[in-house]
Amino acid sequence: MYHSRVVPNDLNAFWMPFTANRQFKQSPRMFVSAKDMHFTTTDGRKVLDGTAGLWCVNAGHCRPKITEAIREQAGELDYAPAFQMGHPLAFEFANRLVEIAPKGMEHVFFTNSGSESVDTALKIAIAYHRARGDGSRFRLIGRERGYHGVNFGGISVGGIVTNRKMFGTLLTGVDHMPHTHLPGQNSFTKGEPEHGADIATELERIVALHDASTVAAVIVEPVAGSTGVLIPPKGYLQKLRAICDKHGILLIFDEVITGFGRLGAPFAADYFGVTPDIITTAKGITNGVIPMGAVFVKKEIHDAFMNGPEHVIEFFHGYTYSGNPIACAAGIATLDTYKEEGLLTRGEELAPYWEEALHSLKGEPHVIDIRNIGLVGAIELEPIAGQPTKRAFQAFVKAFERGALIRTTGDIIALSPPLIITKGQINELIDHVREVLRAVD
Ligand SMILES: Cc1ncc(COP(=O)(O)O)c(C=O)c1O
Repeated sequence: MYHSRVVPNDLNAFWMPFTANRQFKQSPRMFVSAKDMHFTTTDGRKVLDGTAGLWCVNAGHCRPKITEAIREQAGELDYAPAFQMGHPLAFEFANRLVEIAPKGMEHVFFTNSGSESVDTALKIAIAYHRARGDGSRFRLIGRERGYHGVNFGGISVGGIVTNRKMFGTLLTGVDHMPHTHLPGQNSFTKGEPEHGADIATELERIVALHDASTVAAVIVEPVAGSTGVLIPPKGYLQKLRAICDKHGILLIFDEVITGFGRLGAPFAADYFGVTPDIITTAKGITNGVIPMGAVFVKKEIHDAFMNGPEHVIEFFHGYTYSGNPIACAAGIATLDTYKEEGLLTRGEELAPYWEEALHSLKGEPHVIDIRNIGLVGAIELEPIAGQPTKRAFQAFVKAFERGALIRTTGDIIALSPPLIITKGQINELIDHVREVLRAVD
């Protein structure tokens, strides 16, 4: 049985997500186990995790407390209906999340993924305005190059063309702000770029076009991750906040990757000192171990729904697995682990070292920009003429063969290691990337 798990004899049935299926199935890359900073491959090689899985395994792999909590909970209460019934762990976990959330975020709605968190947040925003008698506010404003998951709401407000173009008309009533990437002016900036805060004023133009009275919410990733790590220019998020306040528009931060310590603070809202009205999370909420997400909302938003007859459901939305007991147990054990090891702020201590290591790649072949913040880094490569993405994909495969997991999007290498990484492992990861850059076409 062990054997068939290690070496499957047919790879055909599984249609893999966001994967070049035919390429993969010709030369599969598989992991069979993981511990702390490393994966192990089918042929027994150790691979250093430079991406915390998919930006989610913030405390490293197979952490005993989390594993044990899941095991115990599965034998105690495996499932409880999520609608009109409850179980104590969901309430405990929500309280624990509110404790570490930015001030004013007092309520939590559970989902199972980042995509579900985003669609939930968009629905809350529109329904909130309606609940308080302002039903003409239905428009949603996202941003070019934004990634908000793959459900229809998320791809509609998102701005990654490949994720949108195949899927018809998407949601109506959506507009997009320009992205903040200014390669000429901000290349090789360490941390937050100096130039570009004024791009936020484009929001004023869009709001004027549609009239503020029709706009429900603006959604942005505080640091755009999946598009290749775009760091907000100094003062940009503060400007967005001010414009939203001026026009009564809700501001949603999609913190699916920035939440739970990635920038060296519990949330990006803490890091930048800008508090949105709604925060979407997932991934690091359970250390990536069990699918789960959560939407944090301010008290005023939650309270606007709490009216009408008491026996009537206030918000017609939810998932079979919202607040699943095993996910909650995993989440509580994750928060315990983060707390015991100081992981929600460890990135702050490591960030200067990380920054120097990353920027030491300047001058290596093909490198046209390097960006960093907290424990996030991006190395942008010059694309091969006429073959965009090919060079970065080669780098990804070569890094895997050398013993490092990196992530690539377009021609950008994105790094986001578990927050337990040591300085020695940072050097090791960067050395792998250096060697790979020297080896690709
Ligand atoms: C900012 C952001 N929002 C939403 C998502 C979607 O999360 P999921 O893949 O869990 O649906 C992601 C995933 O990377 C993300 O980075």
